[in-house]
Amino acid sequence: MQKHKVVTIQRHIVEQERLFPRATGDFTGLMWDLTLAAKTISREVNKAGLADILGITGEQNVSGDTVKKLDVYANERIFKAMDHGGHLCVMASEENEDIIPIPDEFPKGKYVLMFDPLDGSSNIDANVSVGTIFSIHRKKTTGKEATIEDCLRKGTEQVAAGYIVYGSSTMMVYTTGQGVHGFTLDPSIGEFLLSHENIKIPSKGKIYSINEGNANTWDEGTKKYIAYLKESDAATGRPYSLRYIGSLVADFHRNLLYGGIFLYPADYKDPKKPKAKLRLLYEAAPLALIVEQAGGLASTGKERILDIQAAELHQKAPLIIGSKEDVLMYEKFFKQK
Ligand code: AHG
Ligand code: MN
Ligand code: MN
Repeated sequence: MQKHKVVTIQRHIVEQERLFPRATGDFTGLMWDLTLAAKTISREVNKAGLADILGITGEQNVSGDTVKKLDVYANERIFKAMDHGGHLCVMASEENEDIIPIPDEFPKGKYVLMFDPLDGSSNIDANVSVGTIFSIHRKKTTGKEATIEDCLRKGTEQVAAGYIVYGSSTMMVYTTGQGVHGFTLDPSIGEFLLSHENIKIPSKGKIYSINEGNANTWDEGTKKYIAYLKESDAATGRPYSLRYIGSLVADFHRNLLYGGIFLYPADYKDPKKPKAKLRLLYEAAPLALIVEQAGGLASTGKERILDIQAAELHQKAPLIIGSKEDVLMYEKFFKQK
């Protein structure tokens, strides 16, 4: 007899949807399409070292980063997997300047999907973990066609959010506001199986993740906070260990399981115009929903990420995310300056 029951992601999603008496099965269909895209991208990422898919296309995405071929592949995969199911009314991707309409020939649905198709893509040539991040909202406008207003949202309005990490194994982690659940892809049967039920982030960690090469551009609060983490004090568990992969999904995933804090503060080279790097709608807001559902916090230093109303599709935000006590401590330092 098997010791544990085997729960596929499909079964889990159906059971989650049943918790909502008025659910139509639409959300289950949407997630089903998304898992197919995830499996296809996982296959491509795994064989990236072998295929001729590696290399730089030479184009730049709207945020000015160099686009790798696998970004383009992942972007197309998600679009093609999601365009015809009848669940979505519009999509938006880190790789597309404008909102992505559903082609005319397909039925439109009530959900909005926003995604970072391949996160950490600069790591791909070195066989380092990369990921996909997604955020799902309900259509907000009442007209027949969805508009950009359906994408410019507050994180608190998300219906669901999640990520896939293509690591030593492929995992999908998602929340619909009923806790955070993790599934590991069993490649032999091509199914995501429940491996991490109801994930909770430790209330305090011993890891900090930040690009220290940027230290000269940090505000005074961040400088003091990082110096504080490096001091020795057994009573408060310091010094912390630095762990920085440079793939947000992978850094976030590790800290979610082990506890700790990830920081991408704004660049204060021009103190009048602080410049953030990570994108609110495709990176910060979905991970913020997950971390809060797991008992952690996500902040800009002075504002809760989930409370930010997006004004632009590719808006950026400082992101300080992780264990509750660690993020609260950062906020104290950030406020003091
Ligand atoms: P993307 O590959 O989607 O453009 O995201 C890259 C992001 C994120 O994954 C990571 O945390 C961060 O960029 C790393 O930035 P630095 O190289 O500036 O540290
Ligand atoms: Mn990214
Ligand atoms: Mn990306």
